[in-house]
Amino acid sequence: MSNFRAFLMGGGLALATLTTASAQELPEPAKQDWSFYGAFGTYDQAALQRGFQVYREVCAACHSMSLLAYHDLSGIGYTPDEIKAIAASVSVPDDPDDTGEIKDRPGRPSDRFKAPFPNEKAAAAANNGAVPKDLSLIVRGRKYGPDYIFALLTGFKDPPPGMKMANGMNYNTAFPGNQIAMPPPLSDDRVTYADGTKATLAQEAHDVVTFLSWASDPHLEERHRLGARVIIFLAAFSGVMYGVKRKVWSKVAH
Ligand code: HEC
Repeated sequence: MSNFRAFLMGGGLALATLTTASAQELPEPAKQDWSFYGAFGTYDQAALQRGFQVYREVCAACHSMSLLAYHDLSGIGYTPDEIKAIAASVSVPDDPDDTGEIKDRPGRPSDRFKAPFPNEKAAAAANNGAVPKDLSLIVRGRKYGPDYIFALLTGFKDPPPGMKMANGMNYNTAFPGNQIAMPPPLSDDRVTYADGTKATLAQEAHDVVTFLSWASDPHLEERHRLGARVIIFLAAFSGVMYGVKRKVWSKVAH
């Protein structure tokens, strides 16, 4: 085969790969209303606590959030006593005792969130071969972060007629390739909210995404507050400088 033909075939192959890649790429997810968007956005604390409830009661069965410790929950308004109780509801391996034996103890506020599986192999074996990712930074780690994860959680549908699904996979409109090993985790009334909010699928998805967004970026509000102060300072400073300028130039004959 001539070099030129090889070159052409290589190009064709690269083009074919490119087109399959773009066929896999999904349209931009629908935009949702997030209280934390915009220059002065803040987290809705009630939504954060509801979102944590969804994570704790549903997602935590499969996904770890290993960058969070229980005491971090003070950042979303839990009191020290509530945090103690939340931590104590899990049991974790203690340090070895005098005989070298490791026993379980109740969790403490300083412990990291307990992971559902001891290691990745156990996680994959329990989930049709796919490892449920750690969710600590997932919102930052995905294009269109909050909107994509909302679309994913609300995007489980029956596969279109004629689509062949691999064994144990679920059809999802938001997931690249449309086949995901995660079974639909949320549905209406999957949780009963402590604050009495009606737990529709969309509400649960919105709340848990709010919580995951906070976990990915817990300092967003401080940053926005600082930004606001800088703007107020600059506005006041401009006013003062304008006064100074008028005073200085008032002595100059026009
Ligand atoms: C029964 C186990 C299980 C539960 C419960 C579960 N997941 Fe998953 N999740 C998985 C698995 C397995 C994957 C990997 C799927 C794959 O790669 O095909 C996954 C993947 C994901 C992804 C990554 C998608 C991507 O783009 O790679 C996100 C985000 C996610 N889950 C969020 C959640 C949230 C939020 C909850 C709780 C509302 C939840 N999951 C509950 C098993 C679960």
